[in-house]
Amino acid sequence: LDTALDLIAEVPDFPEPGVLFRDLTPVFGDAAAFAAVVDALAGTLDPTTELLAAIEARGFLLAAAVGYARGLGVTLIRKPGKLPSVDGRIDYALEYGTATLELPAGTVPAGSRVAVIDDVLATGGTAAATCALLGEVGAEVTGVSVVLELAGLGGRERLPAVRVHALRVR
Ligand code: PRP
Ligand code: HPA
Repeated sequence: LDTALDLIAEVPDFPEPGVLFRDLTPVFGDAAAFAAVVDALAGTLDPTTELLAAIEARGFLLAAAVGYARGLGVTLIRKPGKLPSVDGRIDYALEYGTATLELPAGTVPAGSRVAVIDDVLATGGTAAATCALLGEVGAEVTGVSVVLELAGLGGRERLPAVRVHALRVR
């Protein structure tokens, strides 16, 4: 797993000056690394999990593979305007401006136990909004699992009521 995670590239000044962007595409492109990361993410799931919630866009890729490995379905937490009908929508604050996420209609039964999957936890705004959206439809979030947590950006602190699993913290 360490070898796999060492493939994460660090790109200075993307998407804007001063930001060190972690690029997971080399991990996805390497068959052994991708398998190691998917297996490790699958291993973080609470055993009571019934459904995965994947955050656009890289979370889709990871959750699809984890879902297949664990025999779980996936719901897609999407950026606005992509879904024909939604059960919920949430606006949340970014460092500059706001963002919106939507939950596809009819995909998350009330009371269902859902794990959230994404590639990177940074400020935690995206994951916290996803958990709030799932809570609005009566789901129980069993955990948030990510490949990489960027420590020092407060992501974990924004998810006080949720178990956060990260394969690597940097
Ligand atoms: C990235 C990443 C997480 C989110 C983390 O997605 O994949 O979803 O940002 O940031 P946060 O913890 O500060 O909210 P991005 O906005 O780059 O979208 P994309 O995957 O569609 O490119
Ligand atoms: N990489 C990928 N997604 C991100 C990052 C990053 O460095 N920071 C916030 N979201």
